[in-house]
Amino acid sequence: MNDSRHAVDIRVPDDQRYQLVYQATFTLADISPEDLEVPFVKISSALGTLRHLPLLKKTFGWGGTLKILLKTLTGKRHLYGSPQSGRMVHHGWLSLGFCRHYHVHQDDIVIGSIWTDPAARGQRLATRAISQAMREGLRDRAHRTFHIDTASDNFPCQKVISHLGFGAPVALYLRGRKRSTSNQG
Ligand SMILES: CC(C)(COP(=O)(O)OP(=O)(O)OC[C@H]1O[C@@H](n2cnc3c(N)ncnc32)[C@H](O)[C@@H]1OP(=O)(O)O)[C@@H](O)C(=O)NCCC(=O)NCCS
Repeated sequence: MNDSRHAVDIRVPDDQRYQLVYQATFTLADISPEDLEVPFVKISSALGTLRHLPLLKKTFGWGGTLKILLKTLTGKRHLYGSPQSGRMVHHGWLSLGFCRHYHVHQDDIVIGSIWTDPAARGQRLATRAISQAMREGLRDRAHRTFHIDTASDNFPCQKVISHLGFGAPVALYLRGRKRSTSNQG
């Protein structure tokens, strides 16, 4: 196999917090069918927000629902989630063609702010719901590039990213320094 990537050795200071950035191009065939069996909703517009109002209100309250309405109005931000008993037990955002932290192509999707209810963690909910979201993103095209990033010490999220098939991180960005326990004063 011709691997056109090259490795870069980066040394990050111990007290520096950083995010690992993952990027990969997927086709529908890359998404495992058994990862798709989970209740799923995607909210891409103000109309969708109104249609799912009870679900959103129960999950995010009125303030959160209003924020979602404003975000979906841009047309570039889609909320996805997995509903159970009238509320979302997993949710996250799909941003089309933009990221505040690194450059992405206008056709790319950035997966972000993923969250699973603590009582439902470890049941592959995140893996399955994100797989469904990625499948939605591939509905109208043969392949698409997705991005996702997480903290260097967020091992559950790194596991999800690995299950999704992203491979090794392609970059990192810095998030400010950890509170120092030595050298104070
Ligand atoms: C990250 C998060 C969304 C994962 O949700 P989830 O529904 O539990 O994810 P999944 O069940 O699909 O996968 C989690 C994997 O991490 C593993 N895991 C859990 N805790 C772990 C730990 N401390 N170290 C390593 N792996 C761990 C689980 O065993 C599972 O892997 P497995 O399926 O191979 O057993 C959830 O932990 C969460 O909401 N965290 C708080 C918010 C957050 O950190 N969001 C990410 C911001 S980028």
